[in-house]
Amino acid sequence: MNLLEAIKERRSVRSYDGNRLTDLQIATLLDAINESSSPFGGRLTIRLKEFDLRKGYRPTTYGMIKGARHFFLLASGADGESALSTGFRFEQIVLKAWQMGLGTCWIAATFKGSDFDRDQTWPEGETLRIVCPVGTAAPPTATERLTRLALRSANRLPFDRLFYHTDFHTPLHKDNRFAEPLEMLRLAPSSTNSQPWRALVCDNHTVHFYYRHKSDISLIDCGIGFCHFHKTEKFRGHDGIFFKADATPAPPRDWKYLISYTTAPA
Ligand SMILES: Cc1cc2nc3c(=O)[nH]c(=O)nc-3n(C[C@H](O)[C@H](O)[C@H](O)COP(=O)(O)O)c2cc1C
Repeated sequence: MNLLEAIKERRSVRSYDGNRLTDLQIATLLDAINESSSPFGGRLTIRLKEFDLRKGYRPTTYGMIKGARHFFLLASGADGESALSTGFRFEQIVLKAWQMGLGTCWIAATFKGSDFDRDQTWPEGETLRIVCPVGTAAPPTATERLTRLALRSANRLPFDRLFYHTDFHTPLHKDNRFAEPLEMLRLAPSSTNSQPWRALVCDNHTVHFYYRHKSDISLIDCGIGFCHFHKTEKFRGHDGIFFKADATPAPPRDWKYLISYTTAPA
């Protein structure tokens, strides 16, 4: 399964078969942690932890996650760079897991931190912000099906309401040079499926990204979307960079400028 197939097929998995990951799967996921990278800086520590369900210890996810033995734990700084990097780096591991046939589910809210945190020491300035089960999917429970319906998890906002060309009155055409990486961004997971990202394509080289701030998690969501965008660019042989533009077109009232991407030589 290639990267674009993984992006299109991935969905959050909340029901697992209860089996232990194999040593090879664990080693591959640990490699994925080490190989993940981000251009946004900040501070982030990612660990993979096994909980022995036979000993009866089940960390609390308020009933959201069933049958998972392994969880990633993500501790990060409280700044915006750390949030962007959390999304950008960890989504690389989520996609890798899906390519290995394993499900995951980003969890920012529905977990009891002290259950997951109790034997962990994190680097100075970092606290546990995200947990994420990983394992083989089991048939979805009624709770999982209801959660997906309530969040409208299978739906995404339409392309022409998220992406624009030259100004914010002109929706981006689907044959634009950036249409494919932006479509992959559009499919990204986000907390409560909030999809905070917006983009304005300037020309054949440069895109400005904006976002709607919905919660503290919105920047993590943006990092996840940028991961899909950037991986797709690389997949198609484009090697651009993210940068802060000096001046960008003023966005609609509740959008904030975040960052730009260009393949134009400096
Ligand atoms: C940063 C982030 C935090 C999330 N937090 C939770 C959570 O606390 N509980 C939960 O059940 N799902 C959580 N989700 C999963 C989203 O609800 C899910 O990604 C979204 O509904 C889209 O569905 P999909 O991932 O199946 O495409 C989170 C997702 C992201 C990206």
